[in-house]
Amino acid sequence: MMKRKIYNTLLVAGISAVCFSTVSVTAAPVDDTLVIDEEIEITTRTAPPEGHPLKEVISGWHYRTPETRALETDTFQNPGYLGIEQGEEIWNTVEGTEGKSCASCHGDASESMASVGATFPKWHEKMSKPVNVELQINYCRTENMGAEAYKFDKGGQKPLTAYIKNQSLGKPVEVDLTAGKMQAWFDKGKETYYKRTGQLDLSCASCHEKNNGNYIRADHLSQGNVNGFPTYRLKQNKLISLHNRFRGCIRDTRAEFPAAFSDELMGLEVYVTWRGTGLSVETPAVRQ
Ligand code: HEC
Ligand code: HEC
Repeated sequence: MMKRKIYNTLLVAGISAVCFSTVSVTAAPVDDTLVIDEEIEITTRTAPPEGHPLKEVISGWHYRTPETRALETDTFQNPGYLGIEQGEEIWNTVEGTEGKSCASCHGDASESMASVGATFPKWHEKMSKPVNVELQINYCRTENMGAEAYKFDKGGQKPLTAYIKNQSLGKPVEVDLTAGKMQAWFDKGKETYYKRTGQLDLSCASCHEKNNGNYIRADHLSQGNVNGFPTYRLKQNKLISLHNRFRGCIRDTRAEFPAAFSDELMGLEVYVTWRGTGLSVETPAVRQ
C-alpha cells in the first residue's frame, strides 16, 4: 500500500534502485545488552564464523526502537509468549491414528528439546535434504502420529515451532554443514542470497549486507538474521514464520516469490542461518 506507492513512484520516475539513506545519529545499531527476565543473557553481537562477509554478527534486536527492545526483555510483556503457551498445549495434545501426542515420545520438551532448536536447519537422512523445525514437525506428524502434515503457516505450525525454538532461548545458533549434503545446500542458498531479482534488481545483500544500519523508508535495516524466528511482529500483531518473512522480502523487490519450504528457500535458510552463527536463539523475538 504505502510501500507499493513509493515503489511505483520510483518505477514511474524510471529509477531502478531504491534510495537508502543514512540518518546520522540513530543509524548505527544501538549499544545495549539483552537480558531476559533479568536472568537469561542473550548474545546479540558476536564474532562472525570464518568466511563471513561482515566484521560482526548483530541481531535485529539492536536495530529496533527502545520500546520494541524493551518488550523482549520480559516474557510477561512479550506478546509472542501467547503463541508459546499455545505451542505447549499442542505438544501435549493427542492427534492422529496412532493415539499419540508429541509428549508421548519426546516427554518434557524443556529436557528433550533443550538446544535442539538452535541446531536447525539440519540434515535429515530419511528425507535426504535439510529440514527446519516446521518440516521435522510435519515428518513426526505423518510418520510417527498418523496425523496430517500442517500446511504452511496453518494449524499448530507456528506456535509449535516457536515452542520448540523457545526451549533453546539463549543458546547459540549453530548449523552443522558437514552432515550429508549440507554444504551443497549452503552453496545454493548463498547464490540465492546474492542474486539480484525483481524489477528493483535487488538481492538480499543489497539491503542486509551493504545497507544494514541505513534506512529504507522508515525501516532501519538490520543484517536480516534469523535467530528470533518465528518472530512476533507488532505491525501484524502475530507470530511470523521465517519463510513468510523471506517471501515478504522477495516480494518487496517486486519479484515472484518461491513456495514456502521449496528447495530454494530451504537453501536460503541454511545459508542465512549460518550468517547468524553464534547469536543466541531469541524466539519469540519482537520486531516492528
Ligand atoms: C512415535 C514417536 C514420536 C512422536 C509421537 C513424535 N516424534 Fe518427533 N521424533 C521421533 C523420532 C524417533 C525422532 C528422531 C528420528 C527422526 O527424525 O525420524 C524424532 C525427532 C524429532 C525432532 C528432532 C530432534 C533432534 O534432535 O533433531 C523434533 C524437533 C521432533 N521430533 C518434534 C516432534 C513434535 C513437535 C511432535 C508432535 C507433533 C513429535 N515429534 C512427535 C519420534 C516421535
Ligand atoms: C528492499 C530491501 C530488502 C531486501 C532486498 C531484502 N530485505 Fe529482508 N528486510 C528488509 C526490511 C526493511 C526488514 C525489516 C527491518 C530489518 O530487520 O532489516 C527486513 C527483515 C528481514 C529479516 C528479519 C530480521 C529480524 O531480525 O527479524 C530477515 C530474516 C530478512 N529480512 C531476510 C532477507 C532475505 C533472506 C532476503 C533475500 C531473499 C531479504 N531479506 C531481502 C528489507 C529487505
